Amino acid sequence: MKLKIALLPGDGIGPEVTAQAVSCLQAVEETFGHEFIFASASVGAVAIAETGDPLPEDTLALCKRSDAVLFGAIGDPKFDNNPDSKVRPEQGLLKLRKELGLFSNIRPVKVFPTLIGNSPLRREIVEHTDFVIYRELTGGIYFGEKTLSPDGTSASDLCLYTEDEISRIAHLAFKAAKNRRKKLTLVDKANVLESSRLWRRVVTKIAESYPEVALNTLFVDNAAMQLILNPGQFDVILTENMFGDILSDEGSVIGGSIGLLPSASVGERYSMFEPIHGSYPQATGKNIANPLASILSAAMLLEHFGLREEADAVSKAVDRSLREGIVTPDLDPKSKYGTDDVGHFVATHIADGEDYRGLNKE
Ligand code: IPM
Ligand code: MN
Repeated sequence: MKLKIALLPGDGIGPEVTAQAVSCLQAVEETFGHEFIFASASVGAVAIAETGDPLPEDTLALCKRSDAVLFGAIGDPKFDNNPDSKVRPEQGLLKLRKELGLFSNIRPVKVFPTLIGNSPLRREIVEHTDFVIYRELTGGIYFGEKTLSPDGTSASDLCLYTEDEISRIAHLAFKAAKNRRKKLTLVDKANVLESSRLWRRVVTKIAESYPEVALNTLFVDNAAMQLILNPGQFDVILTENMFGDILSDEGSVIGGSIGLLPSASVGERYSMFEPIHGSYPQATGKNIANPLASILSAAMLLEHFGLREEADAVSKAVDRSLREGIVTPDLDPKSKYGTDDVGHFVATHIADGEDYRGLNKE
């Protein structure tokens, strides 16, 4: 298969981890005989420094000419300490999601057996964690009209959803549940918010076309609690933009390291793959950032294009690095391995294939 992949490494540790994901994709290319054409462009604080714009025209144009985007990270403390700044790196990411129509953000959360000890929760609570969050990504309060009164003493953000926006992601979430453990939890605040009541009506109606999937609903405050009390109860979680943002960060700590979680953002035409973690400025340039979330995002990219065996080869090589302790210091403070060692190990084991060619298939 021939794929054009746009690389948007972005800020902080983004470039370091993306480089490792690219070397893993190159190993896949060689091992399985595909052709991946990579082209890079800037986004975020780096792009602001270069052009004044967090999403330069050229970057957007490159994404639109590509089959998929591999994104690194965005954000710089320079801007966080200055909330009044007119231009912010995050605007680049939000505009990219909107322009590419990436309405569905898919964030799988699972616990790697060798890392259960790293979780802040007890083993018996986390060991059966395996769920995926479907977060609506281009609507709701993130994109509704914003106002600030002229005297600066009142402000508002509108949370607006249409039936179509809810229904297109709901169908994706139900299809995912059908292929998994057949349970879908809609998270909302329907006891208070009109937009949540619309979500409930639309999703309950759609559930009729997926009789094999059991639908339940939870208010977001309760869901936040349930995620910590009993994460094993969840299979597919469907929710709106901001609830999904918050719950996915909560979900990301269950497994012990945010450095392991990948994500996919998909729309009708385009798709983008990125680690859940941020730009981790304190680690920039130190060769200590965990590249596995970026590498697993590359695996999600392969899966998205139907390259199942290839995606499996990447995941198996990642499992192996965890099993053999070839990990960055976030997972093992005594580790002597750097970002590039871990990436190199994974890429090498994709190529040698010993772990996936029918030997260890579950
Ligand atoms: C995420 C991030 C973004 C979001 C920020 C950087 C705008 O937190 O992808 O979850 O809030 O969506
Ligand atoms: Mn977030």
